[in-house]
Amino acid sequence: MIIRKSYLSYIFQGFKHNSFTTVLKYPFRYFGTFAGYKLGESISGPIQGTLCLTYNCNLHCEMCDLPLRHKNLEAKNESFNLDQYYKIIDDFAAIGTSGMAISGGEPMLHKDLYQIIKYIRKNEMMVQMTTNGWFITPDTAQELYQSGINVISISLDGATAQTHNKIRKNEQSFQKAIEAIKILNQVRTKNNASFKINISSTLGKNNYSEAIELVQLAKSLGADYIGFMPVHEIAPDLDNHDYSLNNESDLESLFKTVDQLIKIKKEDDFIETSVAYLKMFKSFYQNEKLPIPCLAGYTTLVVDCYGEVFPCFAFYEMKKSWGNIKEKGLKAFWDSYDLKIKREKIKACRECYWNCQVETNLLYRPFV
Ligand SMILES: C[S@@+](CC[C@H](N)C(=O)[O-])C[C@H]1O[C@@H](n2cnc3c(N)ncnc32)[C@H](O)[C@@H]1O
Ligand code: SF4
Ligand code: SF4
Repeated sequence: MIIRKSYLSYIFQGFKHNSFTTVLKYPFRYFGTFAGYKLGESISGPIQGTLCLTYNCNLHCEMCDLPLRHKNLEAKNESFNLDQYYKIIDDFAAIGTSGMAISGGEPMLHKDLYQIIKYIRKNEMMVQMTTNGWFITPDTAQELYQSGINVISISLDGATAQTHNKIRKNEQSFQKAIEAIKILNQVRTKNNASFKINISSTLGKNNYSEAIELVQLAKSLGADYIGFMPVHEIAPDLDNHDYSLNNESDLESLFKTVDQLIKIKKEDDFIETSVAYLKMFKSFYQNEKLPIPCLAGYTTLVVDCYGEVFPCFAFYEMKKSWGNIKEKGLKAFWDSYDLKIKREKIKACRECYWNCQVETNLLYRPFV
């Protein structure tokens, strides 16, 4: 499978839940984005928009500094209210975005989460949320279902409590994530619902040895698929920043794991990550630059809760804002000359292997 499985599921769900007119627009948007990239213009909007609803989080995972930024940012800025989110969502729809991702921090801490999801669905965009699972209860899972969410991704960084809890720096985090998957499954069955349950795993030196077990665990819990991405040394506010593999034998053993993942993927497609992306893990762990062109800023756009805009999730992580849309609004910002210049400048960037970006880049691989 060349395409990431979750994108196929998106397209399938798009056919099921959106109007025929919206579905008809998909191919035009796909080629519009590609034409925009080639011509350096904003012909069609990003195929995926991301809203980071908060920097706040109940956890402090070892690879993530987002919650460390929360207090400082909150003290200096006013975050969007619900009406302002509605306006941003309207603008994403107006520029031709097909899918929205909800992230954070921990997005389930946001009080207006369900209204935001509902409004995205009202605008006929697909919506996926990534969460650590802590706040999933039978009631919140039911609310998520009723909001019309299409995909819920639970982050799981180990197949054992010991590994996951060490990475997530919390003794209950594994149990909570496992419970969340089970609850989502029950709510789905009870309502005969069609939302997908995805497991999202970041692989580094502390957990790659559990990757195969993670696939088995995800299956046994009734998830629809599992996706992997390499852990990035990308959090500017963390000091202990070293996830690199210790030696040659670690590297060799990780390569074997990657080969096994590719084999499993080819056998039953439960792994949602594309084979093309999995193959790139080897160059990532050898500290090589991304081997394919990046279309960030054309295919993707990230907006945080204070109106800061980033071309990709990696720029959001690295605090490399492209500007603020509070005054101007998203649509005007997207069409601005300033953004045209910025987009052109980062065409040469090969700094990261972030999953959502590389997988969207791969959608255009036959042409660029
Ligand atoms: C920033 S979190 C926000 C959503 C939610 N709090 C969670 O953990 O799922 C989004 C995703 O980024 C991943 N992530 C965080 N730091 C990372 C890093 N340094 N490298 C790669 N992935 C990372 C998390 O594991 C999670 O799957
Ligand atoms: S990865 Fe998610 S759960 Fe962990 S600290 Fe960052 S935002 Fe919180
Ligand atoms: S390579 Fe990574 S950091 Fe660079 S623009 Fe693309 S997604 Fe962003």
